[in-house]
Parts: sequence; C-alpha cells; structure tokens
Amino acid sequence: IKKIGVLTSGGDAPGMNAAVRGVVRAALSEGVEVYGVYDGYQGLHQNRIEKLNRQSVSDVINKGGTFLGSARFPEFRDEKVRQQAIENLKIHGIDALVVIGGDGSYMGAKKLTEMGYPCIGLPGTIDNDVAGTDYTIGYLTALNTVIDAIDRLRDTSSSHQRISIVEVMGRHCGDLTLMSAIAGGCEYIITPETGLNKENLLAKVKEGIYKGKKHAIIAITELMTDVNELAKYIEDETGRETRATVLGHIQRGGQPTAFDRILASRMGAYAVDLLLEGHGGRCVGIQNEKLVHHDIIDAIENMKRPVRTDLYKLADKLF
Ligand code: F6P
Repeated sequence: IKKIGVLTSGGDAPGMNAAVRGVVRAALSEGVEVYGVYDGYQGLHQNRIEKLNRQSVSDVINKGGTFLGSARFPEFRDEKVRQQAIENLKIHGIDALVVIGGDGSYMGAKKLTEMGYPCIGLPGTIDNDVAGTDYTIGYLTALNTVIDAIDRLRDTSSSHQRISIVEVMGRHCGDLTLMSAIAGGCEYIITPETGLNKENLLAKVKEGIYKGKKHAIIAITELMTDVNELAKYIEDETGRETRATVLGHIQRGGQPTAFDRILASRMGAYAVDLLLEGHGGRCVGIQNEKLVHHDIIDAIENMKRPVRTDLYKLADKLF
C-alpha cells in the first residue's frame, strides 16, 4: 500500500475531522501518501480528489463538521457510478480507501469491497447505530449537546408547569434518546426499541400528574410520530399545556468532546495499521475499550446492535 484515499460520507458528526487527521498523520508517518476525497461518494464519482499533507489537517482536531465535506449520494447504488469511482481512484494510483460515515456509507464501502476494491470503514455518525462498535464517532458529543438542550427545557417547563416533548435524532436507533433521557432526568422515553403507544404514554403522564408532578419531559426519537400532534393530544387529554421541541441539526454540530477526538484519532490510525497489515473490507469498532475490526459485509448483513435493556430498566426505576 503506497497511497490511500479518505472520505467522509452521510450526515456529518463531530470528530470526523479528528478521524481524517488520524488517517493522514498516521499514514504519512508510515511513508504512505494520502488523498482526500471531497463531499463523500459524490466527490469520488466526480473525481474531486486532492493530495493531503500534514498541514492539510492542522487546526482541525477541535472543529465540528468535516473539512472534506460530506454528502448523501444515493446514485452510488448504481454499479456504473461505482465503477467510475474506482477508475478515478486508479487514475491517482490510490490502492485503498478509508470511509468515515454511518451505515449508509458502510453500504458504499461494502459494495466497493465486493467489486474488489479494498475499503476500511470508520463509524462516524451521531446516531450510534453502527454494528460492531460500542460507540460511533460523534455520538457522545451529540449526547452532551442534547443534554444541554434538555436542561434548558427543564428550566422553562418547570417555570410554566408544562409538559415538554423533545425530539432527538437517531434515525432508527434509540441510543441518543435513551442516554440523554437518563442523563437529563426525563420522565418518559419513547424510542424505536420501546415503540410508541399513545394511550400507554398518556396513562403514564396522567399517573405522574396524579402523583403531584408539576412538569414533565418526554424524550422521543425522531421519525416515530409528529411531535406537535402528540403534544396537542396530551394537552387535550390532560388539560396541561404541552409544547414540542425538535432539536434537529443543532445536534450534529459543535466541537467534538475529548472522548470523540481521542476515539477518532485512534480509529484513524488503526485503519492505516489494518491497511498496512494487508486487510481490506473491514470496519473498525471499539468494544469493551479495545479497538476491533469486523468483516464489513458481515457487519452490515448479519451483526445487530445490542438493545440496552439494562438501561431501559434503569430508566424505569428512576422515573
Ligand atoms: O444519520 C445522522 C442523521 O443526523 C440522523 O439522525 C437524521 O435522521 C439524518 O441524519 C438527517 O439527515 P439530513 O441531514 O440528510 O437531513
């Protein structure tokens, strides 16, 4: 391996820059050249690829977002588009590619791997929904952002004796909602793992009111329901003022925490190690505090993320 490429893809996540820096600096220290691909698979298809040096990744470790840019590019499902992408990599003499992104980005890396082009996937998403890792890069930073927002909501809910519904990102994974609800002391947690049963939720809210709760916070994962309609339903049924807040893309920005910077740096350097050891078609994770790698095809097709039933039980006890 003499030259590797690196790209960030899908929704950005705090720590992606630190991961790119990890790849670049580790590769250069091993005498391997690094090429940055702009705007994910879209830039790869359009041959927007540039050689990076040490200075290319100066002053980025502390920055949110991704300086390489990112994009959603569903066209990459088309084999001809991927073939063009591989040709572009070959024009630059790039032997392997490091892809930093979520499960959609892993799918692209898996497809390239199946076409014989070696890729290493690094989990970069705030959703924490990637198999084969306990933590994705950006997740814990986003968790702090969500907790900060919930703390603020608590102030105003309490002052006005209102019920607040807070919608948290995570796509089809409830981790960000569950953890932020525990850390933020939310009364009710609705995630894809628990499902939403409006009548049950209402019964619990009424029980809380009966027990003397003056205000309450309901944390719910995005894409489950229209939270404004849910707020109206609860307000109509309980007679308590209810407001919904969609945190949205605020959750994706901001300076990465120390944990995410360190995780991203370790994973970036580890990806280079794997490539130098001759591995391809792998995805990197951290499990029980150790860096690990799995077959990327296996991770996508067969591996499931464990549901944190222990923490759901804890949440139940604490409310
Ligand atoms: O995958 C990260 C994520 O932020 C999800 O939580 C969310 O559903 C999605 O991206 C939003 O994507 P976009 O920024 O493309 O609207």
